[in-house]
Amino acid sequence: MALDMQLLQCLSNGHFCSGEYLANTLGVSRTTVWKEIQKLRQQYSVEVQSVKGRGYRLSQPLELLESEKILANISAQSRTQIAGMDILTVVDSTNRYLMAAASQGAPGGQLVLAEQQTEGRGRLGRTWVSPFGCNLYCSLLWRFNLAATGLSGLGIVIAVALSRAMSVYAEGLKIKWPNDVLWQNKKLAGILLEMQGEANGPGAVVIGIGVNVRMSDVTGRGIDQPWTDLYTSGGKSISRNELAANIIEQVILAIQMFEKHGLSEFIDSWSERDLLNGQPVEINQSSGKISGIARGIDDTGALRVESEGIVKSYMAGEASLKKHN
Ligand code: BTN
Repeated sequence: MALDMQLLQCLSNGHFCSGEYLANTLGVSRTTVWKEIQKLRQQYSVEVQSVKGRGYRLSQPLELLESEKILANISAQSRTQIAGMDILTVVDSTNRYLMAAASQGAPGGQLVLAEQQTEGRGRLGRTWVSPFGCNLYCSLLWRFNLAATGLSGLGIVIAVALSRAMSVYAEGLKIKWPNDVLWQNKKLAGILLEMQGEANGPGAVVIGIGVNVRMSDVTGRGIDQPWTDLYTSGGKSISRNELAANIIEQVILAIQMFEKHGLSEFIDSWSERDLLNGQPVEINQSSGKISGIARGIDDTGALRVESEGIVKSYMAGEASLKKHN
């Protein structure tokens, strides 16, 4: 582990540590400790307080991601599906990183998590705000036997899995088509699926999951839609390692179920959490806007919308609840 991360690990419980203690523990000089503290502040925007005579402490305790802790909370059966787990301190995008690895032949079941993304990607070309150490940014490469064209319902499957894993921490979570997890109409988590290779060949997919765990209002100002975090919606501190494990477990179980039985196994779970069902909605597509009443999803995962008594399915676009005048 790099020195800055070792220092952060020492400070992670939020208690004061003297410069001398940190220098001795890490086997470096006090000047080096000070330089590394500056780095934590400037490079990662970590708030480190320094008080004369007491030393340094984090304004907020922080749990770094650790693959051993994550793996320890995943069932033995699901662990057999994991080819490897990279934990990165900073990356442009875990999805981009894994797409590149996939094109070099990385095996299915490869996971990448990062403490920070400098160019986190959202759906429809959006940016995913990804500050250091407070949220979850995770990508999983999966190699399906099905052709990519047969994977149309995968986003639905992952959204159901993600909401199952997150329900442990907060009640009343909803899913908004195609695959956002919301609490009180504010976005908590999103999914970005990126296909690798030919549409007709065996489908390799990078499944990117971003969860807002505990994010400051200042950082959240960069988000262009109503958002919340799991700490606010659940009211208690969350171990990111445990959360990561729960999500990875549910995602692996769901993919295996999807591979065996298809999307049908997920329709009921989707309906239970469907934010839009029965509501007036608007779908923004490149060809224009469509308005109607949402009527759940069809057996390919497309959104069903009723307009003038006719129900049509929509595969792509951005759906939103229509505001009442
Ligand atoms: C959305 O727009 O709702 C999708 C957000 C997906 C964000 C995650 S964070 C981990 C992975 N890496 C990325 O660059 N994006 C996804």
